[in-house]
Amino acid sequence: MLQSTTIDVEKIREDFPILQRRLKGGHKLIYLDNAATTQKPRAVIDSISNYYMNYNSNIHRAVHQLAEEATFAYEEVRRKVAKLINAKSADEIIFTRNATESINLVAKCWARQHLSKRNSVLITEIEHHSNIVPWQLVTGEVGASLDYLNIGEEGRIDIEDFSQKVNDPDLKLVSISQMSNVLGTILPVKKMTKLAHEKNVPMMIDAAQSVPHMKVDVQDLDCDFMAFSAHKMLGPTGVGILYAKREILEEMPPFIGGGDMIKEVHKQTTSFNDLPYKFEAGTPNIADVIGFGAAIDYLNTLGFENIREHEMQITEYALERMNELQGITIYGPKVTKERGAVISFNLGDIHPHDLATILNDFGIAMRSGHHCAQVLMERLDVSATSRVSFYVYNSKDEVNILIDALQSARRLFGL
Ligand code: ALA
Repeated sequence: MLQSTTIDVEKIREDFPILQRRLKGGHKLIYLDNAATTQKPRAVIDSISNYYMNYNSNIHRAVHQLAEEATFAYEEVRRKVAKLINAKSADEIIFTRNATESINLVAKCWARQHLSKRNSVLITEIEHHSNIVPWQLVTGEVGASLDYLNIGEEGRIDIEDFSQKVNDPDLKLVSISQMSNVLGTILPVKKMTKLAHEKNVPMMIDAAQSVPHMKVDVQDLDCDFMAFSAHKMLGPTGVGILYAKREILEEMPPFIGGGDMIKEVHKQTTSFNDLPYKFEAGTPNIADVIGFGAAIDYLNTLGFENIREHEMQITEYALERMNELQGITIYGPKVTKERGAVISFNLGDIHPHDLATILNDFGIAMRSGHHCAQVLMERLDVSATSRVSFYVYNSKDEVNILIDALQSARRLFGL
């Protein structure tokens, strides 16, 4: 095996039951769709079944042993998440269903209170639909405007253009991705946050593609809000995270109403619970939050610096090999340091869905389509791209198989 210098891919692969399966035609699974969702190690699967087999109970309510054990396990994960992103306190971590819900929570509970007709929200052309549609909804509701920062070649933003746009006295919020799910571009969010704060504009970061792959520190970035999800970092689906500064969460009204988010309920009035419970109405996704804790432990054992280094090595190798293919167009930054482990491309005029179907016959799972980023597709002037995205269990040998499969597709289409 062509070795990664920072992590032992072969050993890691043994921890993922799904990577042992064979697909139709006896092919090994080559999973290159990690920007959509990642596979789960046995430790995550086991922690979920351990909860259901040994201490299944609701949390924050009863005083019996099972309830105490489940409550401790759930709250322990909140502390792990706070540590992971260096939040000041676990109270600043809200569990939601996904990163999308986290962004919608900010749109509904913060933006709706702070926006009026003449105000605006600023996002970029690179955003996922989850960081576009919630702002369209809330700005539409109050009659405010939604402005875009244009991206240049390779998906970069122009920081000069940004500093001019944040000068607008009517701008109320900036919300941007730290890493593009299509181009892999890493945006200079720390610098952007500083510029926004100089004009008293709060900053929201969609970190769905960055937190799983690199060390992210909310105090260092000084962002006001951050959203990401568990399933893109070896954890289960159904768990999203919203981070926000305590003083902002304190003044925000609740998201949805129900049990656990209250202190006292009377016939006509309710007083709300303290943070973070004010934003977590109803029975939460206890089992999957606990599973997420096991995913964080697993990633911490590997080390985020090692993960990032491994991904840069594999991305650099993939870019080098893919560039050997005649007729290929690769989107996004050419410099590996400026991108994550995501490569979007088109091969001649082969439709991405056809290409994905051909690659599937080789056991390769990759995504094709607009990647929930139609504004970016318009900017790139394409209707769709093919996309491969790597994670801790991917190897350079798999990249070689990808290249062979792409060569076969070229021959099949007479390119
Ligand atoms: N956001 C996920 C992706 O980029 C679904 O594929």
